[in-house]
Amino acid sequence: MEAIQIKGIKKSFGETKAVDGVDLTVESGEIFSLLGPNGAGKSTTISMICGLLTPDEGDAAIDGHSIRKETVAAQKVLGVVPQDIALYQDLSARQNLMFWGRMVGLKDGLLKQRVDEVLALIELTDRQHDECGKYSGGMKRRLNIGVALLHQPRVLILDEPTVGIDPQSRRKILDSVTLLRDQGTTILYTTHYMEEAQELSDRIAIMDEGKIIACGTQSELVQLVGEQDHIRLIVDRVDEQYMQQIRKKVNGSVITTDHEHTIEVVGPNANAILPGLISLSLEGDVKISSVEIQEANLEMVFLHLTGKALRDE
Ligand SMILES: Nc1ncnc2c1ncn2[C@@H]1O[C@H](COP(=O)(O)OP(=O)(O)O)[C@@H](O)[C@H]1O
Ligand SMILES: [Mg+2]
Repeated sequence: MEAIQIKGIKKSFGETKAVDGVDLTVESGEIFSLLGPNGAGKSTTISMICGLLTPDEGDAAIDGHSIRKETVAAQKVLGVVPQDIALYQDLSARQNLMFWGRMVGLKDGLLKQRVDEVLALIELTDRQHDECGKYSGGMKRRLNIGVALLHQPRVLILDEPTVGIDPQSRRKILDSVTLLRDQGTTILYTTHYMEEAQELSDRIAIMDEGKIIACGTQSELVQLVGEQDHIRLIVDRVDEQYMQQIRKKVNGSVITTDHEHTIEVVGPNANAILPGLISLSLEGDVKISSVEIQEANLEMVFLHLTGKALRDE
């Protein structure tokens, strides 16, 4: 059964078509990632699924409840972890959870039990009495996730929960997301980190400029680039003329992800392309310090479909 079904949702802000006709189905019990660069429309999509923003067109159903027509029933099923942290900084983790727990109707023994369970899951039991204002960014994010879990939602939505936090907290968040899925929770997870989508997801939708440009399992998505190879060159300088010449030689995409030292080439048969790249570098006086041939990954799928890099470094 579908946990989330999105049909034809659209949202514009003035001239910006933030979400431009999205259809998606998240199956019950899976981790589904929405992968896309900054500005793709991920958060706007999430806000409409949660009923925080009204779509210009279309609708979303959570466990069969229309978010437009049966908002309360739909929201009951949902736990949402927004991109921005919503916590009382001068309260402890425990006090925050007790407060939010009461807000969702928990009380007495059950409230205490859920707060203890959630603290254990987000691994903050030993810091539960410290003021949140003193927590690291990663601990605050974990507590934010904890708040969304108090009422044991069947469907959990996390919007870029690991941006800007320490690797240890990131690891804990990824592990608890997998654990929740294994316990039966359906997860919709947005990210612009390819590695996270690859590690976590049962299925992935790639989003760009308000549209879903591909959707499937990782291996289905990687097949979209077909038999193409991915070559990464590290050079002493990224020279536009050099890039132009490679483009003429390679029947594929050529981009730079950092405008300084990295050139990415996607094309058929790396072994046939490489000698050309090297002789062009000699002609153009560009020094290559490293050549790497990589297996197809989601970064490459994005590059193949859009001609752009997914990463924002
Ligand atoms: N409240 C808003 N007002 C105006 N423009 C917005 C608003 N929210 C989002 N946008 C624009 O809509 C587009 C999609 O944004 P968003 O959904 O936040 O993308 P993502 O979460 O994938 O980074 C961007 O161009 C963004 O600037
Ligand atoms: Mg966002």
